[in-house]
Amino acid sequence: MNDAIPQLLTYDETALDSAFAAVSDEVRSGASTLATPNAQEAFRLHWLGRKQGRLKLISEAWLKSAPAEARKPLGIRFNQLKQEIEAALEAPVAASGAAVVRGIDITLPGTVRQPGIAHPLLQTMEEIVRVFHHLGYSTNLGPQVESDFYNFEALNFPQNHPARDTQDTLQIANQGSKASRDRLLMRTHTSPVQIRTMVAQAPPIRIVIPGKVHRNDAADATHSPIFHQVEGLCVDTNITFSDLKGTLDHAMKALFGSGVKTRFFPSFFPFTEPSADVQISCIFCGGKGCRKCKHSGWIELLGCGMVDPAVFAAVTDERRKLGLDDDAYNPDRITGFAFGMGVERIAMIQHGISDIGQFYSGDMRFLEQFA
Ligand code: PHE
Repeated sequence: MNDAIPQLLTYDETALDSAFAAVSDEVRSGASTLATPNAQEAFRLHWLGRKQGRLKLISEAWLKSAPAEARKPLGIRFNQLKQEIEAALEAPVAASGAAVVRGIDITLPGTVRQPGIAHPLLQTMEEIVRVFHHLGYSTNLGPQVESDFYNFEALNFPQNHPARDTQDTLQIANQGSKASRDRLLMRTHTSPVQIRTMVAQAPPIRIVIPGKVHRNDAADATHSPIFHQVEGLCVDTNITFSDLKGTLDHAMKALFGSGVKTRFFPSFFPFTEPSADVQISCIFCGGKGCRKCKHSGWIELLGCGMVDPAVFAAVTDERRKLGLDDDAYNPDRITGFAFGMGVERIAMIQHGISDIGQFYSGDMRFLEQFA
């Protein structure tokens, strides 16, 4: 580089133009060699160095002998020049036409990213699903916006069942003009996917259905209007209530430890007959009785039952409409069981969490404990 300070003898417009054009050329030719961070730094120092920077030296020299009226145009042009130099430093690639990446030292250690984790609810949901995968079940999913038919009608809910009430179900707006079976709602359970699966597929069926469900429930420590379930369905020849008991007993032991006992209480669901609520021996007190199990020694965990023949009939109707007149779900030959459990409830028991709201708070202090 030529370090001599160019002379400026007259300060008329033409003289300024050519003097600045010459310096500008000098900047441009320097800017074409900015291939490395070192070259960029040298260029920056050469032009913009505080004490000996060329821009400063030239401006001092030219301003010193400048008549008063030339100071302003000189100032403006020096500013432009400075911007040119800075622009060259900003975009060395564009200026030089060379494909260089500026300012990255690949020998430095990278920025450490904290690895994310699956949300604790997802972890529990996956854990439940995995237990059944090991038993040969596969996973099926279905829509959260569901029709009345799949959510209620095919599952044998009578027209006036309280669960259909807008009190319990979140309805989609403006469905009034549709036939009642086609009206849309937010699914209140994962059971509609039982129907979707059986309509699409003949037995044998072994599926689990994890997913989000919605109810018009007020949020409190144990309820949330949106929560998660894992549904299960097993349909084949010769499926009995003891298969149901054995499967769920195994699943509860896999989830909560081999010391856990299960017991089945008579219950009611429109789509299973007989139906049962499953309780496990309290994992907090080992069944002796404590505050968590309300001193009963047992914790109620899930609903289940043998698939009601009315459900098979609804499925058969649907399959016939699709031209599948195959007798696949003839209840004389085919039986099955189903179960459904709340993921939040199971995760709360697994981890001793007393407020369901923690799961949805996004509070890192809570979530980090599951990393
Ligand atoms: N769908 C039921 C509920 O949400 C649970 C259930 C599923 C019960 C399958 C029996 C069989 O409460």
